[in-house]
Amino acid sequence: MITIRINETVTIGQINPMLHGQFIEFLGSCIYGGIWVGEDSEIPNYNGLRKDVVDALKEIKPPIIRWPGGCYADTYHWRDGIGPRNKRPIRYNENFGTYEMDDNQFGTHEFMMLCKFVGAKPWLNVNMMTGSVAEMCEWMEYCNRKEMTTLSIERGENGSEVPFNVKYWGIGNEPWAGGGTYTSETYANEYRKYSTAVPSFSSYKTEDNEEKIIKIACGPDGNKPKERVEWTEKLFESFQKFRAPEVDAIDLHFYNWNLGDFSSKETEFDINGWYTVIDSCLELDIVIKEQEKIIEEGNKYIKSQEGLLGELYGHPLKSKLVVGEWGNWHSSAFTASPALYQQCTMRDAITTALSLDIFHRNCNRVDIACVAQSINVLNSIILTDGIDFLKTPNFDVFKMYHVHQNAMAVECFSDNSYKAEEGNIFTFASVNNELIHLNIINTDYDKTKKVTIQFENESVFETVTILKSEKTTDFNSFSDPDKVREKMGEEPIKEGTSYIVNIPAASISVYKFQIVNN
Ligand code: AHR
Repeated sequence: MITIRINETVTIGQINPMLHGQFIEFLGSCIYGGIWVGEDSEIPNYNGLRKDVVDALKEIKPPIIRWPGGCYADTYHWRDGIGPRNKRPIRYNENFGTYEMDDNQFGTHEFMMLCKFVGAKPWLNVNMMTGSVAEMCEWMEYCNRKEMTTLSIERGENGSEVPFNVKYWGIGNEPWAGGGTYTSETYANEYRKYSTAVPSFSSYKTEDNEEKIIKIACGPDGNKPKERVEWTEKLFESFQKFRAPEVDAIDLHFYNWNLGDFSSKETEFDINGWYTVIDSCLELDIVIKEQEKIIEEGNKYIKSQEGLLGELYGHPLKSKLVVGEWGNWHSSAFTASPALYQQCTMRDAITTALSLDIFHRNCNRVDIACVAQSINVLNSIILTDGIDFLKTPNFDVFKMYHVHQNAMAVECFSDNSYKAEEGNIFTFASVNNELIHLNIINTDYDKTKKVTIQFENESVFETVTILKSEKTTDFNSFSDPDKVREKMGEEPIKEGTSYIVNIPAASISVYKFQIVNN
């Protein structure tokens, strides 16, 4: 018997809803076909945006969506995507094996419309490779300027007199690879220029200024254990030289690579394939802790400016860690058509839940996290094919976990010892308005686990939802779109002030308890 102990009186921190963010890119059929079908499409749509996709996204209310890439952002010129759609230039999209004509029908206004429909904040990523500082400033001006300038008037002519007020701006993407093969020093130097040129859109600068632009610098490749440390350390060493630029956040990318066998399919695996992928997703926790420590140290060593101004503005760097891309990446994605298209099985749902819980537990270390990617690419929550549409089991995880947004993460332990080659019970709990939500993930391939749940104070069981399927390889297909779906689970047995539950193999449960106030 495994015991889970929850001390709901000891809080770790508040769960920023931004940890449940999404990422979409012009890659494969993520945007064209997956989100944008155009107003004249036979696929039901809201002004060109797929109705089924928008309605599904509304269900999970993504707090933030990152766009236009990814690698695509490294060659994207924002002016290609504004103005009358029939006059937009035709380019060729070579991003990650996409190899398709690109008619720029989905641009800034269409992205903002999507964000508005689903209630998400936009995160725009600027082109630091084939773009320029001027191009970035003009995009910012176009999006955010409220005063009547030539660019804001143009925005009005294109349909939005009201500024978009985009707060989150990523400066470059993966500059250590496709984004320019920079070193951390050369990137830091380039970043200085971009960061300094960002308009403030406000006559004053304060910490809580709503209009303040959040400048996101590129963090490391989270999958390279030595390089990722060197990247972030050297980045801060560069920023320490002379006056530091403003860096509000460092964007780490971490993929759970499953590249063992290039002939394997993401839907066909045995017990070894199950545990290998589950075990490797847990590295994210190590990477977050390591990177946050380097950032915290780095922030400390940045000098304040000498003199009165230095005293006035105080410490120039208070960078936070964000994770702009995360998710499973199976080898089959490399040869998939559309590019990077993957099915998502119960195994992907389990690693999605484990990863989100890693973010929840590290809510004091990470500010934003975006799953890569929302639709038809890698660790998707939605898949489409022509008119066909389905929600993957990953969608259910986001839906079930929504209850943790803005809640307080609390102390929660299970006494099973972790062994990579065996199943384990993983837990996380949060408290909001006298309600405790407890996640229990059983990663065991085929064994149910008996668990006792103990609270510090008395709590009353209310409901439980569970995501599980007959086989670990099960997934939702267009012919059976609801094969793996969250359901109500079994009521636990009360024993004194504890509860006894049977947690099925390969399952994710979210229990709701009400705290009893004596
Ligand atoms: O998400 C797919 C790709 O992975 C992104 O374009 C890039 O940033 C990363 O390498």
